[in-house]
Amino acid sequence: MFSLLVLHLLGASVWVGGHLILLLTVVPSAMRSGDPEMIRAFEESYEKIGVPALVLQVVTGLWLANSYVPGILPALDMSDPLRTAIAWKLILLLATFVIGAHARLFIIPNLNKERLPWMAVHILLITMIALAMLVLGASVRL
Ligand code: HEM
Repeated sequence: MFSLLVLHLLGASVWVGGHLILLLTVVPSAMRSGDPEMIRAFEESYEKIGVPALVLQVVTGLWLANSYVPGILPALDMSDPLRTAIAWKLILLLATFVIGAHARLFIIPNLNKERLPWMAVHILLITMIALAMLVLGASVRL
């Protein structure tokens, strides 16, 4: 249980930290210079540890959730604060996949100066969702 939590927190540091760096330093520079290459270059190197971090997050998160609510899916009834937090984490995970897939399929392949603001909106949403997952996670214990 302890090592699961440590791995979950390691994944959270990489996922949330990487997206904050992207949103707060890389995106503003790219927008100022109108150069989408900066975002593409960051994504290319970050995704080598960012994607495994998200996978680690999902595996350890589902494992932890299963220890609180066996079978996990009953949490979707949101009948108490713990189940509500777990249900929202699942909903936000789904939202992360949808927004990520949309960016990867429809925006990144033809990323240019005009489409940069759309990319920035996707990065903002993914980062806000990651922060919400972190706050929800902390609320489980407290
Ligand atoms: C971007 C994705 C995620 C982030 C950033 C994140 C972050 C966190 C953080 C910071 C904690 C606090 C740990 C503590 O209290 O010491 C936590 C706990 C938790 N997370 Fe996540 N999490 C993510 C995804 C998930 C997913 C997909 C699930 C599955 C439902 C999940 C389930 C849990 C559970 C059950 C806990 C409570 C663990 C405990 O306190 O024993 N998480 N999460």
